[in-house]
Amino acid sequence: MVIFTKIAVVGLGNAGLPLAAVIADSGQSVVGVDIDRHRCERINRGENPIPQEAGLDQLLKMHGGQSLLATADFSDAASCTVFIVIVPLFVDDMFNPDFCILESAFRSVGSILKEGDLVVLETTVPPGTTDDKVRSWLQSASGLSSGQFFLAYSPERIMTGYSISRLREFPKVIGGADQESGIAAYQVYRQFIPNLKLVSSARVAEMIKVMEGCYRDVNIALANELYRIAEELGVDFAEARAQANHPYCHIHLPSTGVGGHCIPVYPWFLIREMERRECFDRCRLLRLAREQNDLMIDHWAQRILLECMRVDKPLGQVRICVKGITYRQGVKEFHHSRNLALAHLLAKKGLDARAWDELLSKEEVEAKGLRWMLPEDADIVFDSFELEIRLR
Ligand SMILES: NC(=O)c1ccc[n+]([C@@H]2O[C@H](COP(=O)([O-])OP(=O)(O)OC[C@H]3O[C@@H](n4cnc5c(N)ncnc54)[C@H](O)[C@@H]3O)[C@@H](O)[C@H]2O)c1
Repeated sequence: MVIFTKIAVVGLGNAGLPLAAVIADSGQSVVGVDIDRHRCERINRGENPIPQEAGLDQLLKMHGGQSLLATADFSDAASCTVFIVIVPLFVDDMFNPDFCILESAFRSVGSILKEGDLVVLETTVPPGTTDDKVRSWLQSASGLSSGQFFLAYSPERIMTGYSISRLREFPKVIGGADQESGIAAYQVYRQFIPNLKLVSSARVAEMIKVMEGCYRDVNIALANELYRIAEELGVDFAEARAQANHPYCHIHLPSTGVGGHCIPVYPWFLIREMERRECFDRCRLLRLAREQNDLMIDHWAQRILLECMRVDKPLGQVRICVKGITYRQGVKEFHHSRNLALAHLLAKKGLDARAWDELLSKEEVEAKGLRWMLPEDADIVFDSFELEIRLR
């Protein structure tokens, strides 16, 4: 029987740091490895680099620099027997996954991997990544063969701001690249994840996370479509939605589209893989949902333009304020922000479109390539979270 003593978490970002802190808080000794040396120093001083993350302050004050030791040097984790990797996977302009960060992290882990160690990937990836790519990077960097180390996948299911409570309460799944790995990974994880479910394989665990993103994207696209139809029919969408929803029907909220680094990206993992296999007819709905959600900014630009025509001024002089340019209310992040894209689209149309956001200073708005304006100084305010156009 393998005895797991020390856990390494590779990648101490928004997702990895809360996980490392929760593991440390469960009484385990954790080495956090991150190439950002400055971040490591802060964590070791007990400082919290993600202040919006509820509960993280307290955990880092207690464990930072003690049972959670952060380092930029992989050799400091050489005595660890469990390696959890949670670094980003970006997509290129054509939404093809770019594996270079993952490959680099796994090659570094491979360089210190020993026989009997367990490696778990948490980053959301196209199904098959753990079995194929991760296994081969680890083998080539470590010189070990496939059966000499355990390999598993467990998608993180956190939500920025609520990561600690998510880790402690939300169901988490884990699956091994083989049966032994699944069992070994389950035994380690259940020491710090109370609500854990072992699934039959790493590939199933990978698919679970991607499916969740697809579900959200398609359902938001449906809500957006129904919203536009209701608008055309002169129906109050909010009232209809409130009464339509019951335990067997959940119409989502309409929006300016879908932002963030997760939901707008994960459907592409499946779309691109189906295209690679020339199975074009298997992902039509996913593709359509992506298009529908991305087109919502054109819809809102059109609506705002119509409102501008009601203002007694030449079109180019109507002052428009887009209120809220982050991708989600209350979260200072801009990945694929459709609100930001909408503000740029309006400005590109030659309109006097500016922006304001409760989380951003004037300088921060300007750094996004937009002009800043207080909502009260505008002729028209578009509240991108409430989906309200107000004439002032
Ligand atoms: N943040 C979220 O809310 C969230 C939500 C859902 C899923 N995720 C998942 O978590 C993954 C990571 O996201 P994140 O938000 O933590 O990213 P992040 O950018 O906040 O952090 C990534 C960290 O990894 C470090 N890093 C990069 N390359 C490295 C390497 N080779 N070795 C060691 N460290 C390295 C970076 O310095 C950084 O601190 C995402 O790809 C996604 O799958 C995150």
